[in-house]
Amino acid sequence: MPFSDGLADFRSDTVTRPTPAMYQAMAEAELGDDVYHDDPTVLALERESAEAVGKEDAVFVPTGTMGNQLSIQLHTNPGEEVISNAASHLRSIERGAASAFAGVAFRSVERPGGQIEPEDVDNAMGMAGFFPRISLLTWENTHNLSGGRVVSFDLMKRTSGVAREHGLKIHLDGARLWNAVAATGIDGPDWGELADTIQFCFSKGLGAPIGSVVCGDSETIAELRYLRGRAGGAMRQAGVVAAAARVGLAERERLAEDHLLGDKLAVGLAERFIGSVDPGAVETNIVNVDFDALGMAWTEVSGRLDGAGIKANGPIGPVWRLVTHRNVDDSDVARLLDILA
Ligand SMILES: Cc1ncc(COP(=O)(O)O)c(C=O)c1O
Repeated sequence: MPFSDGLADFRSDTVTRPTPAMYQAMAEAELGDDVYHDDPTVLALERESAEAVGKEDAVFVPTGTMGNQLSIQLHTNPGEEVISNAASHLRSIERGAASAFAGVAFRSVERPGGQIEPEDVDNAMGMAGFFPRISLLTWENTHNLSGGRVVSFDLMKRTSGVAREHGLKIHLDGARLWNAVAATGIDGPDWGELADTIQFCFSKGLGAPIGSVVCGDSETIAELRYLRGRAGGAMRQAGVVAAAARVGLAERERLAEDHLLGDKLAVGLAERFIGSVDPGAVETNIVNVDFDALGMAWTEVSGRLDGAGIKANGPIGPVWRLVTHRNVDDSDVARLLDILA
């Protein structure tokens, strides 16, 4: 459903607004005090989230960043290193949180599409004794900066297996895990087996206004609940927002529609601007465009978009990121293509 003001916002799936069903669930939510662990709506959301990824328990947190960073704090000690793809959100877009709060550095793997090969872990661990201790492997799926690419289940399984042999803990930043599920047909519990902690967001394509969850075994989640309180992330009548998150989670299969729209956008751009997009590389709802292939300056493009009531972020280097979600539709994509052409 497009926005009622007619604006088409392609900046991110985070711009999605609550649906009528979400507003109704928020208005009718049974509430308690989540710091006393007795808000029934939060408890229901945590139960449903844990079940969705085959884990024992879950803890509701205000943001994906907090879920990722508390998980890093839990799995590491200051001075240690975390293996991560170089273009991961938790390394590069969380404002240095891992070094500021957990006191860790990253052993970065430079590969496309969020990939980390088993040999990357073996190589990093081969230096034990001289280099900083490594305690954690992190994944991001789908992988935001590479254009919503899915890290294949097979690769994650092989590399996570090697990491476990080395005694590493594994965290999955699944901010868009349900996009990976929709794109592959491989369900949550299968991905869940590949990590000790899994963070996923309700505030992205699922459409809820606020919130994320971290799932894991009971002991892990109890400890994360403690760390959440210490970080100031424990909320009181949080059922108000958890109610909307429950609706988003229950409707997660609809993400496939966002992917279809992403594909239409990619194909439309590729037809109009040769070399701007490889539609085969667009697997989910994020379309990375080679901006130079449009042959226009950003001032020209942004002027046209403004005039047509379309919002988009500017390119970062040559990469122009457009995102489809439940509040844009076919006519918005057609409008965007027309105005560019
Ligand atoms: C892959 C990924 N991880 C984590 C986050 C952080 O989520 P939040 O904005 O809720 O802190 C984002 C946000 O865009 C993201 O794309």
